[in-house]
Amino acid sequence: MTNEPHVVWHEHSVSRKEREELNGHRGCVIWFTGLSGCGKSTVANLVDHKLHSLGVHSMVLDGDNVRHGLNAGPGMLKERHGEDFAKRFGLGFSAEDREENIRRIGAVAELFASAGIITLTAFISPYRADRDGARALQDEGDFIEVLVDAPLEVCEKRDPKGLYKKARAGEIKGFTGIDDPYEAPENPELVLDSAGKDAETLADEVIDYLRGKGKIK
Ligand code: ADX
Repeated sequence: MTNEPHVVWHEHSVSRKEREELNGHRGCVIWFTGLSGCGKSTVANLVDHKLHSLGVHSMVLDGDNVRHGLNAGPGMLKERHGEDFAKRFGLGFSAEDREENIRRIGAVAELFASAGIITLTAFISPYRADRDGARALQDEGDFIEVLVDAPLEVCEKRDPKGLYKKARAGEIKGFTGIDDPYEAPENPELVLDSAGKDAETLADEVIDYLRGKGKIK
């Protein structure tokens, strides 16, 4: 028996529309997805910087950072909260844990967007169904799925954190693209050619898209 039936939604006294009017632009979610090392965080941070320079309120939620706090792994939680707690709430990289990682981020992105912020998320988010769950929280047009596209060979060659090497050596199990799946989006709003173009160019493509859709001036 839970208390859930007694948890009642409370309308905010300042509406999303009023917050957006104050900001001078609407909120939305720009959901970057792609293999580890494809450039999601780099491009998201460049877009963030460009938006900031344009006077637009934006925020990046990034897998590696969020996994240090809100979605920390069992190892990190164990120290402060003990083993049982860490086992219950820590997130790793099983399909189930990735689902919960993305569910939480979808919910957080929704909070940021409803504060009128252009919210950039950079998570591998390998499962289509999980990304669609995050999309379902937004109105039509407010969820912009961006595939940061680079072949596995290119990401593996970059290997910025040395993790592909560890995965190939069997030191990391279930690494996306090596022995864990990545389901590319079928109809993303944008595809960025990260193997063929530099990050600056890709960030400009996102800015152009936002201008084209009237999200920013
Ligand atoms: S997701 O699959 O749940 O969306 P997320 O984006 O949060 O992943 O985290 C991915 C980052 O965690 C990678 O860039 C990499 O640095 C690290 N990582 C550690 N283990 C794995 C793994 N098994 N698969 C993929 N990335 C991993």
